[in-house]
Amino acid sequence: MGLFTKDIKKMDDLFVHTLRDIYYAENQILKSLPEMIEKSSDPQLKQGLQSHLRETENQVKRLEQVFRLHGQEVKGVDCPAIDGIIDEAEDIVSEVADKDVLDAAIIAAAQAVEHYEITRYGSLIAWAKRLGRNDCASLLQQNLDEEKAADKKLTAIAESKVNRVAA
Ligand SMILES: [Fe+2]
Ligand SMILES: [Fe+2]
Repeated sequence: MGLFTKDIKKMDDLFVHTLRDIYYAENQILKSLPEMIEKSSDPQLKQGLQSHLRETENQVKRLEQVFRLHGQEVKGVDCPAIDGIIDEAEDIVSEVADKDVLDAAIIAAAQAVEHYEITRYGSLIAWAKRLGRNDCASLLQQNLDEEKAADKKLTAIAESKVNRVAA
């Protein structure tokens, strides 16, 4: 079944579907981050991913709050997009031996994940507001702010160290 199944008729359905999608995505990210942390060498990168892992645990809790506020059971729905991004990251990471190149690959993969999250949260916030759920929107905004900060931090790490060393 495609993304726009016949169960999605109203804005509310689309909001709930996408909430389930990002809930699944955040949980997959939680599972994949420990390996990325283990494989990274740059201390700044390792520490940055570690703190984003803790943030991600909190983001999952905020999403659970959004489900509850909106009167929906907490549940995920398969998201082939995030599965693809994570599979590709794991593939590349398993093939790279040089540790500086590996760090660069991990940063690129993590940024692909952040950008995916940023688009999802952007849409969810707009839709929450449209549905009159400012309470949900403000929780989702906290997640979005963390994703944007994580993305910026990754760019800074890439620019300051890893890419220079790997060049
Ligand atoms: Fe996240
Ligand atoms: Fe993230």
